Amino acid sequence: MTKYDEVKQQLLTEPKVWLITGVAGFIGSNLLEALLKLNQYIVGLDNFSTGFKRNLDEVKESVSSEQWQRFEFVEGDICDLETCKVVLEHSSEGYVNFVLHQAALGSVPRSIDDPINTNKSNIDGFLNMLVAAKDADVDSFTYAASSSTYGDHPALPKVEENIGNPLSPYAVTKYVNELYANVFARVYGFKTIGLRYFNVFGPRQNPHGAYAAVIPKWTAAMIKGEGVFINGDGETSRDFSYVANAVQLNVLAATAKLEAKDEVYNMALGDRTTLNELLEGIRSALRENRIDYSDKAVYRDFRPGDVRHSQADISKATEQLGFVPTHRILEGIYEAMPWYVRNIS
Ligand SMILES: NC(=O)c1ccc[n+]([C@@H]2O[C@H](COP(=O)([O-])OP(=O)(O)OC[C@H]3O[C@@H](n4cnc5c(N)ncnc54)[C@H](O)[C@@H]3O)[C@@H](O)[C@H]2O)c1
Repeated sequence: MTKYDEVKQQLLTEPKVWLITGVAGFIGSNLLEALLKLNQYIVGLDNFSTGFKRNLDEVKESVSSEQWQRFEFVEGDICDLETCKVVLEHSSEGYVNFVLHQAALGSVPRSIDDPINTNKSNIDGFLNMLVAAKDADVDSFTYAASSSTYGDHPALPKVEENIGNPLSPYAVTKYVNELYANVFARVYGFKTIGLRYFNVFGPRQNPHGAYAAVIPKWTAAMIKGEGVFINGDGETSRDFSYVANAVQLNVLAATAKLEAKDEVYNMALGDRTTLNELLEGIRSALRENRIDYSDKAVYRDFRPGDVRHSQADISKATEQLGFVPTHRILEGIYEAMPWYVRNIS
């Protein structure tokens, strides 16, 4: 039995109250679905800036009506401190035990286009949530940090203590989150856990718009029979991780012992996949779903600011939190593909 199995068993026996910010987004709605299926009580907060009501509707369809009744949604903005405070008192079950803070404006290119709004949600909003959670004396506060914090540090694989200079406004905001989290532990004794997500993918990740991530963007293009563009020679690599792994690590972090807190952990697989390999993986998963995409990708210039390779060392999360990823990259792509085929075609 893994640590995750043990924790799930415990939660089923003794349900807790969770606050998920960014609940209408990709990772937030996957957390919601997994936790409702464990009969937990959830308060969710979102302002629908990049999230969607349809994500919540989909979760509703996937759980029982009894489980759905355990979910309370608040539409609101983490940039408003009062909203953050109110939402922590919102649960009809009373006291919120665990906060999973996901709300933020993602995407490096968006932050370059719009550093002001990125800063508002990702730093002001983060600080509001941190203050509100500290004042509410929650049992734990787990937040979405980012692999962008490694910046220009050349070492591979990435270990938590060696970071470089941030390469984008987004990376600055995620690093500032870690600094605030650490200072809150020192000054107020409020110990949190940051999960540095590497490239997370899975159902409900938005395939549309200028800031879409590579897996949903390419998958949508291939389903629609459109061209696929690769920035550079395709040998750029990333540590892509399926969303079920992110859900697992959030649950382990939220329920972790005090000794494991006031820390950041890599959330990834510890593998490296090139863009060329990724394309072939998506192609074969589509074939499995009776979509034959035979066009070759079009190679274009490298995108400025993109790091060449990224790969995490996940031994800290494995050793200290009991993290054992359940999905390798292809397993994740195959599992996610029916969702994309259903939603895009
Ligand atoms: N997806 C990844 O690969 C990845 C990688 C590193 C870090 N992250 C981080 O993980 C978290 C979740 O990302 P995601 O991929 O699910 O993105 P997403 O855009 O799908 O979800 C973010 C959610 O937060 C909400 N939100 C944004 N600003 C808000 C505000 N001011 N008030 C209330 N709600 C707000 C959005 O409406 C959205 O529903 C983010 O913090 C992101 O920075 C994601």
